[in-house]
Amino acid sequence: MRKEFKRYLVTSALPYANGPVHIGHLAGVYIPSDIYTRYLRLKGCDVISVCGSDEHGVPITIKARKEGITPQQVVDRYHELIKKSFEGLGMSFDIYSRTSSATHAETASAFFRKLYDAGKFIERTSEQYYDTEAQTFLADRYIVGTCPKCGNDRAYGDQCEKCGSTLSPDELIDPHSAVSGSVPVKRETKHWYLPLNDYEAFLREWILDGHKEWKSNVYGQCKSWLDGGLQPRAVSRDLDWGIPVPVEGAEGKVLYVWFDAPIGYISATKDLTPDWEKYWKSEDTKLVHFIGKDNIVFHCIVFPSMLRAHGDYILPENVPSNEFLNLEGDKISTSRNWAVWLHEYLEEFPGKEDVLRYVLCANAPETKDNDFTWKDFQARNNSELVAVLGNFVNRALVLTAKYYDGVVPACGELNDYDRATIEEMAAVKGSLESNIENYHFREALKDAMNIARIGNKYLADTEPWKVVKTDPERVKTILNVALQITANTAIAIEPFMPFSAEKMLRMLAVDRFDWERLGATDLIPAGHRIGKAELLFEKIEDDVIQRQLDKLAATKAANLAAEAAQNIEDQKDNISFDDFQKMDIRVSTILTAEKVAKTKKLLKLTVDTGIDQREIVSGIAEHFTPEELIGRQVLVLVNLEPRELKGTLSRGMILMAEDASGKLRLLEPNEKTNNGAIVG
Ligand code: 2FM
Ligand code: ZN
Repeated sequence: MRKEFKRYLVTSALPYANGPVHIGHLAGVYIPSDIYTRYLRLKGCDVISVCGSDEHGVPITIKARKEGITPQQVVDRYHELIKKSFEGLGMSFDIYSRTSSATHAETASAFFRKLYDAGKFIERTSEQYYDTEAQTFLADRYIVGTCPKCGNDRAYGDQCEKCGSTLSPDELIDPHSAVSGSVPVKRETKHWYLPLNDYEAFLREWILDGHKEWKSNVYGQCKSWLDGGLQPRAVSRDLDWGIPVPVEGAEGKVLYVWFDAPIGYISATKDLTPDWEKYWKSEDTKLVHFIGKDNIVFHCIVFPSMLRAHGDYILPENVPSNEFLNLEGDKISTSRNWAVWLHEYLEEFPGKEDVLRYVLCANAPETKDNDFTWKDFQARNNSELVAVLGNFVNRALVLTAKYYDGVVPACGELNDYDRATIEEMAAVKGSLESNIENYHFREALKDAMNIARIGNKYLADTEPWKVVKTDPERVKTILNVALQITANTAIAIEPFMPFSAEKMLRMLAVDRFDWERLGATDLIPAGHRIGKAELLFEKIEDDVIQRQLDKLAATKAANLAAEAAQNIEDQKDNISFDDFQKMDIRVSTILTAEKVAKTKKLLKLTVDTGIDQREIVSGIAEHFTPEELIGRQVLVLVNLEPRELKGTLSRGMILMAEDASGKLRLLEPNEKTNNGAIVG
């Protein structure tokens, strides 16, 4: 039987305060959670939505060290940036808190202490890498060395970013400390572990038997974790940034970031309301965690085990999690700057907050990874928001202004078509509600947009602009119905596009309606004077999209250059001037070029070296077509020992530059030069 809840507590994954928020975060977590919360508020439910910055963990200390600032300065910067950009996009958290707050330190310490006192942890001593020069234990990320899988000499102790392998520090070849560069030694250290294996039976029953309704990606991940067998997990770390482990003899140790972060939901609620316990300690509360798929294990396995061990708190009722969003076909990556950053979007697209909200929801990676492309963004804006929603609302308002001076006309007798339209509109409510309540936000958005589609079709079919000439009374009914549909649209789109909903209400000159009124046809009374019509959405032109594509292309080029710079080969051994003098390099023109039969790589060229015309066989057929080469001036090493290749005596070598990706480029004089000119 479905349980009835009295109130809702919605949490959204706390973003790390070591970088700005991008569209991947938004599509995965924040847009869905905001839609859900706004919907519940509109329905008049008792709901609070909490979020905040996740300000601990090793990446923050790494960033601070890199920039020569303190971790606190790093988190202050990004906390403010994230908070402001969330506000800019209309995220309606009741509180946006942070885990460096005093409330959080107290709450997380008390949580740990309660588990510690109740004997819920096990203590273990293990050997970990220690930097004797910097006198600090090294988190896996702080150990660098050569990847055993791909040979990248900048792999981290937890992962090689080049080949994507997950590593442990012991696997690295030639490990050294990223802090001091010294070779670390192994040293014993004590940590506290939560024996997750003790919670396996509870988790199996609670999730596998009790929550079969969870999204299949979430349920599936939980099942595979449980089937794989759970192990004790360390909940402390040797680090100087974080919440100190609140027990004696734990100097230099802090709570592991994934232990303290989810407790951040509790501390945020405490900071929001003195009534916080009602939300966390009553079975009447429906707790819903919105998260990204990389957070599933922490929210479904680890945190619930912590909550269970603690005993005072409720467990989540659902943990909706999306898959990942890619950008223009590539994985979004903070380190490669391959992302659309929210704060930049807000600056570059002022007034278009709802367009991003719309596109990210319409294209949300709900069941599989999805791709964000700027062309799709443009198309959805132009052909859905402008052509359907904006067009409908505009026509209804402009025609009312034109025919009735902005005063809502009375509804006369409805004909069958009017009634069918109204019925169709009213039927959307049930589907919309069920889709939101079941976390199917893409479908829900389609439902909401459907109301505008119905309205658009109604005006197109009834053609009031024509009928006005023959039957002005009928037009009053048509526009009354159209305005009621407009008001309904404003209700339905509010969870998804709050800015536009507000604008519509302003244009209609009405207050916000209760959600329950969705489907009604008496939302705006006859005789009411509406406000001035403004455009809800503007067409986005190609040049705007091109600018974004150019920006991404520049990022890609910069990444390639950086990668190439990393792979520069070491300088070869010195040679004498005489050695150099022995090489005879001449400017030459390529006269003919043709593929060598039955080979993939070879081209046979005739070149004019100024000395003579000769044949050279060159292994460049995969890089250039013969047509690209003919007529080009190149540099040729003319006194290379001749060699027979596939039946041709090759006399010389065309000089090329090979970049890190293996791509070849011709070396040409910067101006036309006489063939035979000596290079040296
Ligand atoms: O993956 C992340 O961005 C984490 N900072 C999410 C933490 S969620 C919660 F537990 F706080
Ligand atoms: Zn590798």
